[in-house]
Parts: sequence; structure tokens; C-alpha cells
Amino acid sequence: NDELFKNVISHAKEYGFVFQSSEIYDGLSAVYDYGQLGAELKNNIKTYWWKSMVQMHENIVGIDSAIFMHPKIWKASGHVDGFNDPMIDNKDSKKRYRADQLLEDKIAKYEKDGKTEKAAKLQADMDDALKAEDLPRLKALIEEHEIACPVSGTKNWTDVRQFNLMFSTQFGAMAEGSDQVYLRPETAQGIFVNFLNVQKTGRMKIPFGIAQIGKAFRNEVIARQFIMRMREFEQMEMQFFVRPGEDKKWFEYWKEARLKWHKALGTPTEKYRYHDHVKLAHYANAATDIEFEFPFGFKEVEGIHSRTDFDLSQHQEFSGKKMQYFDAELDENGKPYGNYVPYVIETSIGLDRMFLLTMMNALEEEDLSTPEKQDSRTLLRLHPALAPIKAAIFPLTKKDGLPEKAREVMDALKFDFNCIYEEKDAIGKRYRRQDAVGTPFCITVDHQTLEDNTVTIRHRDTMEQQRIEIKDLHWTIESKVSW
Ligand code: GAP
Repeated sequence: NDELFKNVISHAKEYGFVFQSSEIYDGLSAVYDYGQLGAELKNNIKTYWWKSMVQMHENIVGIDSAIFMHPKIWKASGHVDGFNDPMIDNKDSKKRYRADQLLEDKIAKYEKDGKTEKAAKLQADMDDALKAEDLPRLKALIEEHEIACPVSGTKNWTDVRQFNLMFSTQFGAMAEGSDQVYLRPETAQGIFVNFLNVQKTGRMKIPFGIAQIGKAFRNEVIARQFIMRMREFEQMEMQFFVRPGEDKKWFEYWKEARLKWHKALGTPTEKYRYHDHVKLAHYANAATDIEFEFPFGFKEVEGIHSRTDFDLSQHQEFSGKKMQYFDAELDENGKPYGNYVPYVIETSIGLDRMFLLTMMNALEEEDLSTPEKQDSRTLLRLHPALAPIKAAIFPLTKKDGLPEKAREVMDALKFDFNCIYEEKDAIGKRYRRQDAVGTPFCITVDHQTLEDNTVTIRHRDTMEQQRIEIKDLHWTIESKVSW
């Protein structure tokens, strides 16, 4: 399993999906760049999300709000005071750790050793301490369970302190009256503060949603596992505004709808599970994670949160502006529901985690051995709609007018599909290279093409080849790669 994770990381680099940021300067911790194929795959994931959330729901619209926001927003949202991780330092190694992570690792160790009772007890104690924000208790648990620093091996710990995860910077000229601003740690607040702008200008009626895709920033202290936990990442979030009292119903609706979205990509069902939260964030009255089984265990990919009227009420209080909606519909007593601050159900998925999950699911070393010959191929079995390149066009040889004919085929397709033209290397090698990046179709132009306008089209998964007319290429590709 660890092997798969390593393979995905090196494959992502080798084929231009993901690079370490600032690599020539030895990298920047927990920051990554998407390469030429990664950017395409990421865009396709975004499109799948946007289409299914915004285009397919008449009552959901999408926005694109700024990363910089008024600093009071983060006061109102609770992030200035509450968006903290409990940290502890080892005095010998000078390494800093998340206190809850150290405890989680210990719990995992107990479980692995069959000490399930001990694991359960520690889990409960830790949950209690976190809920009560009892930092001394967290430290006491680390000491009681004799947790040593993974680097120095000693148990010489500092006290546990809260560490805010928001990045800040200065706005305006530094010299006079500059203001501290934050890089948003979630895209959601850009939706909340625009709630009435969108509702009024879009004439939206409750229940309705506002969606957005964008960057978020968190000064994660423990940055590990490749693009799972980054300092700069992307979220795809949707806030669904509902009548107070109807929040539970919509929470259940979105919980189910979002899992369906994941499964529609063909991911094996058993790789997904819900994880209902016991300890809730400061804004939520119900929350669940959609978890995926990564090589390092089940981990959160998406959160569905019932955020009550917390955010809108806070913004109403801090901004002094009304955040109410007038509901003209009649209740069971025939009276209009009237003015209220809506309740909110949020769906929030990490684009980078979705990207990693997609790569993990798709990468495969397929055994093609026959009794005569050992053989295998590296295959990225991506859903065709997500594949970065939809078709690769090859002239069989570099002469006899084949490249020109292949260019003609390429030109006829490239407006509608992301295509690649390649004439280097033997044809078998070119096929294998496309298999490794998930291209569903390879189209080869040969001498017969010049006579009858047919080409061979090779299917990635079956490696089957068909002879078809050039004029049929468009719909053949379309039928497979469209949503
Ligand atoms: N607005 C709600 C919110 O931000 P969250 O659970 O903190 O909730 C939502 O984040 C999703 O964003 C997570 O499920 C995860 O996929 C992704 N995410 C959070 N922190 C991340 C990080 N440091 N790197 C990559 N993805 C992250």
C-alpha cells in the first residue's frame, strides 16, 4: 500500500501532473505546483463538480469571491479566536507537533497491538480534552501514555499551546495605518458575505445554494502526505440556504447526494465511508465527513456541515447589516414564513485531495504476460471525462504525407477535445506513454488512411483497435468523454 502511494507521487512527477513548488530552490514545504497534465485533470474535476452542483441544480448559482476580505470577517466567523491547533514542542529536538496528532498516532499504535480498550479510553479522554480546550489535560495525556518525540526519542515536552492557522499580511503602505489582513482559510465566508447580493440580484428563493471554487490557505504545522495537507490548496464549497427547522432534512439530502457524486466516477463503493462527527466545530449542529481509503487509512475528502444560522447571524452582528431573508411562502397555518436568518448546509470538498484520490484509484500496473513472454503496462485508468488528454494522434511514420494527414485529423478535433500530436518513437511506445497518462483514445494515421479516409482507433482499457472513418471520430470520442 505504501508502495502505491510512492508510485503515485513519482508517477505524478514523471509525467507532469504535480511538482514540488520552487523545486530548484529545494522546494517549499507543503506547497505544490500542478504541471501540464495535472492542470488539465484538476480542471476536469472542477468541471465535473461545477456541472453537477451549479448547472444541474436550477437553485444553485456559482460565484468567485476575492481571497482578501475585510479582517472583521474572520473575527465574526470565529477564525481569529478559534481556528487553532493545539501544539507541543519537544525541548530536545526542537520539533513541533500537533498534540492531538501525537495522541492519534498512539491510539493507532494501541489498536495495531490489539489493545483496543486502551485505544478507546485514550480516544474518549482526548475527545473530552479537545472539546473542553483543556490544554494541560492534553499534555497530561501525552505524559501518561509516555509518548516520545519521533525524532529525539525523549519525553521532554513543553506545555501545549494554541497556534492559529491563518496566514496574515499587511494591507496598504506599511508606514502609516496599515491593516492586517488574512489569506482566507476557507472559501465559505466569501459566500456568506455575498448572500444577500446574490439572493437579490439572482432573485433566488429559499431553498437555494451558492457555490464557489477557489484557493484557501492554512499554516498547517504538520504538513505531510504529499497533497493531502497543503498550506495553499483549493476548495469546492457550496452553502445551501434553508428555512430554520428544515436543516436536518437538507443535511441528510446533501450527505447522500455528495456520496453519489463520488461514486458516479466508478470508485469502488467500499473505499468510501461516512464519518459522523462527535466533537463539532464551533459553527455546526451536525457534521459528517466523506472519507476515502487512502494507503495510509481512511481520510477525509469532503465535509458536510449543518452550520445553523451561525455565520449569517455573526455577520449581521459584526457588520450591523441585516442578513435576513423575506419568505413569502405560506406555512401550514396559511401565514407567510416572513423574515428570518436562514440556516445553512455546507458541502466542502478539497480539490487537491480529490485529485490525489483520483490518481490513487486510477494508477495500475497491468500484467500482460503470455506463456511466451512477460509483459506489463503502466495504466492510468481515469474516467474518460477526467482524462487530461482525450485523444492522441499519431502518424504511423514521419514520411509519405502521413504527418500532414494526421495534422488534419488533429485540427478537426482539437477545438472540442484536448488532443496531442506525437510522431516520435515506435507506435507501441507511443501507445504505452498515453496509457500511463490515461488517454482514452489513440488514433493512428497510416497509408490506408490516404486511400480511404479511415484510421485505427485504439481503446485504452481493452487495447482493442478498430478501423473507423475519420468522420466518425468526433462522435466516437464524444460518446465516451462527455459527462
Ligand atoms: N468551510 C468548511 C471547511 O473549510 P474543512 O473540513 O476545514 O471545512 C474542507 O475543509 C475540506 O478541505 C477538507 O475535507 C479537505 O478535503 C480540504 N482541506 C482542508 N485542509 C486542507 C489542507 N491543508 N490541504 C488540502 N486540503 C485541505
